[in-house]
Amino acid sequence: MPDTYDLVVIGTGPGGYVCAVRAAQLGLKTAVIEKRSTLGGTCLNIGCIPSKSLLYASHAFEDASHKFKDIGIGVSPKLDLKTMQAFKQKGVDGNVKGVDFLMKKNKIDVHYGAGTITAPGKISVQREKGNATEITARNIVIATGSDVARLKGVEIDEKRIVSSTGALELSKVPGKLLVIGAGVIGLELGSVWRRLGADVTVVEFLDRILPGMDGEIARQFQRLLEKQGMAFKLGSKVTGIDTSGKTLKATIEPASGGKAETIEADVVLVAIGRVPYTEGLGLDTVGVQLDERGRIKTGAHYNTNIDGIYAIGDVIAGPMLAHKAEDEGIAAAEIIAGKAGHVNYGVIPNVIYTYPEVASVGQTEEELKAAGIAYTVGKFPFTANGRAKANDTTEGFVKILADAATDKVLGVHIVGPEAGTLITEASITMEFGGSAEDIARTCHPHPTLSEAVKEAALAVDKRAIHM
Ligand code: FAD
Ligand code: NAI
Repeated sequence: MPDTYDLVVIGTGPGGYVCAVRAAQLGLKTAVIEKRSTLGGTCLNIGCIPSKSLLYASHAFEDASHKFKDIGIGVSPKLDLKTMQAFKQKGVDGNVKGVDFLMKKNKIDVHYGAGTITAPGKISVQREKGNATEITARNIVIATGSDVARLKGVEIDEKRIVSSTGALELSKVPGKLLVIGAGVIGLELGSVWRRLGADVTVVEFLDRILPGMDGEIARQFQRLLEKQGMAFKLGSKVTGIDTSGKTLKATIEPASGGKAETIEADVVLVAIGRVPYTEGLGLDTVGVQLDERGRIKTGAHYNTNIDGIYAIGDVIAGPMLAHKAEDEGIAAAEIIAGKAGHVNYGVIPNVIYTYPEVASVGQTEEELKAAGIAYTVGKFPFTANGRAKANDTTEGFVKILADAATDKVLGVHIVGPEAGTLITEASITMEFGGSAEDIARTCHPHPTLSEAVKEAALAVDKRAIHM
């Protein structure tokens, strides 16, 4: 261990480990501190990766149960949840090992234990057992991520009342699953368990699902989820859960108050958001400032108010997304190494990995209206896309919003098959300041789902071909 590291990163989620790798590439002697027993943070251990494995596996189960016969494949699928959970764990293990490898390859020291900043440049690392180790560093990046937001009066036991962490670990398909919160976690994990046989009801405080997502896309997506069998109670709140009986009894009231009703469930998933995680970091001692929502306050260079202490990822403001954390990690490492790191917050894609997927980048119609920006809209449904028709995956549409005066792409929103992959051409167009015409004039391979993006771009100028 060197006397002083150039950089110590606390937390090894996608923000922290990527920051460490970039710093090592730039020649900084770097270490990471992680209090879990494995690297990779929320995303790799209990977030993005295991949820995507279960979404993939449960989608395959649903296809085998309902779609295969239409394709001419006769099977009688039987769910083996234990093996499905093992499949998920294999994906997690593979990814976590990958981060181990990256640390070794880049000669980054890994210190397991909880990191506490005792003074600027000084960190103490406490393992579960034994004495704390003291580490010194010229620069510290805090990348401690986020934790589950709790609902007052509802205690999460991770067995019957679960957060996303418990919902990824269920050993039995619940007969009835009540989801609190129609956000990303509620809809992704609600989809997993519905596909595997649960009767799923989602209770949402607001009068719409997926706040922040383009309203037209969200409405269409809700209709598709309802068609699949998911039930929604919008404009409603859970005010308490009676856990005394064999089944849980949740009391639900209209958000604005009124007559209560009871919904019974075997499992309740609390998915009402996540909160920044700063516990035990010693921020009070060193005087690092937080904002009104408990996030670490940072300047344009990810600097906190204390010299040499930076913060990135879920623990600071902005969307709580792995790729946002990664890009901030790269930018912070570059800034610390004296380069010009930068993240374009106007072009951070957002994907929901359900079936169909939902993906968006840039501004929504609601945001453009609120900002008084004149825009044109081009839409194209997957029902008119050759590949979608061939695969019988025709749900959804592509919507492109372009500046009315300049045709510059301002936002792209997709609900449909592989939306998460399709969105990247929109992101790249926006990074280059491109126009709808640029997408429309780019030759897209046939037959691909990406032709729906091209057609939506043509539709901005009212000249879609296949409509
Ligand atoms: P984290 O990944 O939370 O990592 C922080 C790390 O810091 C943790 O390992 C923690 O143990 C460690 N730590 C905390 N305090 C200390 C300390 N004092 N000392 C040492 N170590 C410490 N995002 C997407 O973009 N796509 C998805 O598909 C997606 N799916 C998700 C699914 C679920 C169920 C959940 C819960 C989240 C999902 N997210 C997804 C969000 C994503 O996981 C986060 O945005 C991302 O992990 C944030 O990265 P981070 O590096 O800021 O923090
Ligand atoms: P979220 O912020 O996406 O959704 C929470 C939902 O709960 C909102 O619709 C909100 O209005 C509602 N809500 C809040 N309080 C409520 C109450 N008392 N009763 C009923 N509804 C209530 O949060 P979620 O789904 O927990 O996810 C947390 C974070 O994790 C998200 O910010 C997301 O960025 C990230 N994530 C990303 C994924 C992805 O990129 N595919 C997947 C899963 C999580």
